[in-house]
Amino acid sequence: MAFINNHSSLKIIVSFIVLLSLLHFPFSSAVKGGYWFPDSGLPASNIDSTLFTHLFCAFANLNTQTNQLSVPPECSSSFPRTVRQRNPNVKVLLSIGGGSLPSSNFNNMARQASSRKTFIDSSINLALSNGYDGLDLDWEHQSTVEEMNNLGTLLNEWRATVRAKAPNLILTAALHYSPRPNPVATFPTQAINNNLDFLNVMAYDFYAPAWSPRPYLTRPHASLRDPTSTVSGSSGISAWMQAGVPANKLVLGVPFYGYAWQLSNPNQNGILAPSNGGDTSVGQGTPSYRQIRDFISQRGATVVYNSTYVTNYCYSGTTWIGYDDTQAISTKVTYARNTGLLGYFAWSLGQDQNWALSRQASQTWGSGARVTDPELEWNVLHPFSI
Ligand SMILES: *[C@@H]1O[C@H](CO)[C@@H](O)[C@H](O)[C@H]1NC(C)=O
Repeated sequence: MAFINNHSSLKIIVSFIVLLSLLHFPFSSAVKGGYWFPDSGLPASNIDSTLFTHLFCAFANLNTQTNQLSVPPECSSSFPRTVRQRNPNVKVLLSIGGGSLPSSNFNNMARQASSRKTFIDSSINLALSNGYDGLDLDWEHQSTVEEMNNLGTLLNEWRATVRAKAPNLILTAALHYSPRPNPVATFPTQAINNNLDFLNVMAYDFYAPAWSPRPYLTRPHASLRDPTSTVSGSSGISAWMQAGVPANKLVLGVPFYGYAWQLSNPNQNGILAPSNGGDTSVGQGTPSYRQIRDFISQRGATVVYNSTYVTNYCYSGTTWIGYDDTQAISTKVTYARNTGLLGYFAWSLGQDQNWALSRQASQTWGSGARVTDPELEWNVLHPFSI
């Protein structure tokens, strides 16, 4: 009896500590992110920022002559001000670069101390003068050891300057889904760990008609799993963790768009079905989620969720589109949470339809806590158990 009493009171005390830690630790840490860009057709004033913790304005542009940055007018001070109206706590980051730029634009800047300094000072000035909470580097397509080393040096110096001049600024980057984009070059994981608040893992664009090998086969472009290869979101996340970036610095990217393929035979319409290549009849071949939902309702297309790959696809006639609908999004967000990742982010907000995917993702993650399962929290704190 005495034993049980002791046990109970101990359990109450420990439960209280767990409750305190639950209240204290997770709320500021989760990331529900989304990128917005001016030409997306969605005015910034229409963004439902209550569904996000972090919003990214894309993109500040690097002048390759001067190494200074400039922002489009829509990413100036009006953006942070506008999105904070509905959610004063949302963190607003200025994203630099973008996937349409060659890697050499950034590498030429990052290989010299003087141009790095110009870039870094310019970025901090822009963030502060426009009221941003942070900066996000979208230097993409790195492929050489030299580029990886220069990226590492840039991150070291960027963080050191931020620490000295603007210690509250958040620093993030959006990088390839895998830490090893080819057999020779690996991202500088030590510099990433030491200097970035978190890393946005771009777990999409794996396959598209424009860059897939022949013979063409229909493939989802952002599957979480793939029984036939290591090109998948979960393989990429595992590889980043094995390369030394902890789960709680990783944010899983989800796409709000798809790629359209032309079926060779309308009756063969699954994943890995024979295809003639791209189908540009919907959204020029890269339809937004909104355009995909319109295609589904206008054409009466068949929608399938494949839980092996964690993707949706839809087809009608010879048009086949691989994309993420609410099922794929909720399974991915559940995976991110259960794996201990920091959160998720979406590219891009203007492609959603009435906030359906954004809301699904936010509700699936839950209250904003990174670890919301009391059992898991208990086990993390008390591996010895009582
Ligand atoms: C997903 O698609 C693959 C490839 O077509 C197929 O082999 C698998 O059975 C599908 N999974 C489910 C759960 O239907």
